[in-house]
Amino acid sequence: MINNVEKAAKNFFIETWGCQMNEEDSEKLSGMLKRLGYKRTEDRSSADLIIFNTCCVRENAELKVYGNLGMLKKLKIKNPNLIIAICGCMMQQKDMAKNIIKRFPFVDIIFGTHNSYKFPEYLNRVQQENTSVIEIQDKESGIVEGLPIDRESTVKAFVTIMYGCNNFCTYCIVPYVRGRERSRKPEDIEKEIKELISKGYKEITLLGQNVNSYGKTLEPKISFSDLLRRINSIDGVERIRFMTSHPKDLTEDVVDAVAECSKVCEQIHLPVQSGSTSLLKKMNRNYSKEGYLNLVKKIREKVPDAAITTDIIVGFPGETEEDFEETLNLAREVQYDSAFTFIYSKRKGTPAYDFEDQIPEDIKHERFNRLVEVINESSARKNKAYEGRTEEILVEGTSKNDNTKLTGRTRSGKLVNFEGNKKDIGKLVKVHITKATSFSLLGEEIQ
Ligand code: SAH
Ligand code: SF4
Ligand code: F3S
Repeated sequence: MINNVEKAAKNFFIETWGCQMNEEDSEKLSGMLKRLGYKRTEDRSSADLIIFNTCCVRENAELKVYGNLGMLKKLKIKNPNLIIAICGCMMQQKDMAKNIIKRFPFVDIIFGTHNSYKFPEYLNRVQQENTSVIEIQDKESGIVEGLPIDRESTVKAFVTIMYGCNNFCTYCIVPYVRGRERSRKPEDIEKEIKELISKGYKEITLLGQNVNSYGKTLEPKISFSDLLRRINSIDGVERIRFMTSHPKDLTEDVVDAVAECSKVCEQIHLPVQSGSTSLLKKMNRNYSKEGYLNLVKKIREKVPDAAITTDIIVGFPGETEEDFEETLNLAREVQYDSAFTFIYSKRKGTPAYDFEDQIPEDIKHERFNRLVEVINESSARKNKAYEGRTEEILVEGTSKNDNTKLTGRTRSGKLVNFEGNKKDIGKLVKVHITKATSFSLLGEEIQ
């Protein structure tokens, strides 16, 4: 009996906050754990190991982590053998690990973004020596290739092409917690993609904080557009996407590659952050409103069907009503397909934390609501234009809210829920779009 209990596979629960970078790290942690014989569970209370992969890009992200950590105390009292591990960007901040252990002494393992590949070693130490392990590495190490990845989807895969960021936008904590830019070798990226294709994946999204500066640190140098062309020629790849583009680095050759490469989808995420040139300067973004609008013009000329999406921050220190109206006007002019809109959040350690002219909360909220209204208008208009069209959809699975329907995306990245045949999951199909809602499209598969 005891033997059986000992042999029963251990369960792990993992919760991930933040962007695709954290998602990918979690898929690797999960891959390593599965290799060790662990099974994934979606139920915290039955887990033998709980991992929280944290984000600190805005204060809200951190508050969520604290709230969730507080709730784990009860579980640990009920099951003293439960191992609790915390990792991710939040842990890279100065004194964070120390503070976490003080507030939540029941945490067993803390590690950062630069050493997550060592997690099995930390886990082993906790189990063998019955101690806690706190290891944060200040600086990035080289890229560790070949870790197993337990991907969420079986149809589309995210492939990181570069890590870190060198841009130091004055509001942003990412460069401090993710280290300097470093690119994976094109051969390693191609190898990973070929393996994915052999497992049946159809869509590849290339990831990096600023994909347009891919390859600058490599020898021989290679540009992002070269990489796009190389991946476009891999047999079996059906769709290629990429994120994120920094407007200062999105060069014409990338726009040309999007236009010319048949598998590269017509979708560009181009964070503008603000429509005011003077605010962009304070943000250290290195482009002007006019420069950005010219770039959009170029994209529309060469890739007329392209969906353009963005990130916008409201309430950055010093933002006047005039600055904000410039942002609204830019959003009206560009007519974004969709946008992630954020209220500026002070991040300790970033230059903007110490800027004096911080904006009062009520003004930030009022501006935020006005911006969302403008964005929703253009999203609805863009979606409406799809009614009556026939679109190529990569079928990702059944719809979350209605499992009699299928779900997938257009090449431009629009979510479509539609009546169709379940045997087509994982395939490209044609769908007639019957109706647009604000956030998605409805349709019927053309059999
Ligand atoms: N590397 C990407 C995005 C990184 S973070 C880029 O440069 O576009 C994702 C988004 O979070 C940013 O684009 C920005 O809009 C937002 N963001 C980052 N720091 C923030 C802060 N301190 N307050 C509010 N939003 C922030
Ligand atoms: Fe942050 Fe700017 Fe780097 Fe994006 S480019 S991760 S916003 S510092
Ligand atoms: Fe958050 Fe780290 Fe991404 S701070 S947004 S998870 S790089």
